[in-house]
Amino acid sequence: MIFRILALGDVAGPAAAARVCSELFEIRRQYSVDFVVCNGENSAATNGIDVKTANELIKYGVDCITTGNHTFKRKEIREYLDETKNIVRPGNFPPEVPGLGYTILEERGLRILVMNVLGVVFLEPLACPFRTVDRMLRAAEGKYDISVLDVHAEATSEKIAMSHYFDGRIDVIFGTHTHVQTADERIMPHGTGYITDLGMCGPDDSVLGIKKENIIEKLMMHLPVKFDFSDNHVTLHGAIFDYDLDKKRCVDVKRFEM
Ligand SMILES: [Fe+2]
Repeated sequence: MIFRILALGDVAGPAAAARVCSELFEIRRQYSVDFVVCNGENSAATNGIDVKTANELIKYGVDCITTGNHTFKRKEIREYLDETKNIVRPGNFPPEVPGLGYTILEERGLRILVMNVLGVVFLEPLACPFRTVDRMLRAAEGKYDISVLDVHAEATSEKIAMSHYFDGRIDVIFGTHTHVQTADERIMPHGTGYITDLGMCGPDDSVLGIKKENIIEKLMMHLPVKFDFSDNHVTLHGAIFDYDLDKKRCVDVKRFEM
């Protein structure tokens, strides 16, 4: 018996959020998906995540939203993080910050632990992501059946190092944040299903989801530029992880693109 997890990469802007919401029910049915995790930290109009979009993603079939470096861009999300079990923020923010780095959700009688951590290479100097995830695993010990980790990080080396450090201790590990899907999906030597980056759910004709003109101007002129999401055709990127309930480990990972 397989428990199938679909992980969707960073939802980049309202058009991408709308496509996820309108098609996820059918995707779940078509691919026999049991559980959906999606990184939602760029889903609001000028990035960050707002309550309305988060509620819609959950309503239309996302079981758990993970976030990242833009989690707290909008103040309204602070209270929401404390009130909602279906969203997590990186666990290595200071403990006083609203929300938690992990949650445990039930599906098909199984308890799914979803953890989120932010890389610290080329990003904010938060607490050590390795030790943070170790702490979250200890806190959740005995309370879950399947474990999932979103490493929201810039450096491929940091994500790959984490996949080795947690190989065999976490069932599914994927990276997010770069918005570009990597081709290294694999089952690690000790049984963890892994991919360095899921890619994004976002507009094709863009730079990581943003209007290409904005980014070219920023990179060429080095002046402040307002970034707007592109509004052309959206592709959904992610990965499908098959967890074998008898073997109690991940047995297959496939890249997802639609
Ligand atoms: Fe990010």
